[in-house]
Amino acid sequence: MPVTLSEFRSGMRALAAPVNVITTAIAGERGGLTATAVISLTAEPPQLGVAVNKANGSLKLIEKAGIFAVNVLTHDQLDIGNVFAGATDARGEARFKVGTWATMVTGAPVLKQAKANFDCRVITCFELSTHVLFVGMIEAVRVNAAADPLLYADGCYGGFVRKESREFAQQLALQALELNTAAVFDSPW
Ligand SMILES: Cc1cc2nc3c(=O)[nH]c(=O)nc-3n(C[C@H](O)[C@H](O)[C@H](O)COP(=O)(O)O)c2cc1C
Repeated sequence: MPVTLSEFRSGMRALAAPVNVITTAIAGERGGLTATAVISLTAEPPQLGVAVNKANGSLKLIEKAGIFAVNVLTHDQLDIGNVFAGATDARGEARFKVGTWATMVTGAPVLKQAKANFDCRVITCFELSTHVLFVGMIEAVRVNAAADPLLYADGCYGGFVRKESREFAQQLALQALELNTAAVFDSPW
């Protein structure tokens, strides 16, 4: 028996995920939505997947355009995430008043100040009950290595805490040493 909707949701809230804005455009018409359901699929060829709710205003536009961009938001771009999540009354083109937008290869709108942009062409899609999973071939990538991502977990937004500081690395090394020492002492050999 599958789990209930509330069990599913409470489990999924534990999956900390980057917040992205999926955008598309065709013949001058632009649309987009905030989405966490973005998944890395294959490196060769370079493909990713995005799951879009059938009720979403941009779904038909992505299908028609056959292109989309994944714009990974930085920790200070919550205002953009909110607009594209429908938290304001901005719809369609009006959502692009926040941020600075450009295009790369496919013509899908890319957010200039994003943590990363993946410019994709739809290769195939799968209908999964309430959602459509679009598989995109990545035709261009831009990365802003210095920026921190905006994350969504436990039903709220947060930042990313880097653990590769010198102190943390030393702490990890000490822990590993203690574990190894314990393993040697516990060993029957
Ligand atoms: C944090 C967060 C993550 C979301 N992830 C997704 C997602 O992965 N797929 C999706 O279809 N909608 C997702 N949504 C909902 C859409 O952003 C929202 O339904 C959409 O922007 C409404 O657009 P519309 O008014 O054009 O239909 C998410 C919303 C939030 C706040």
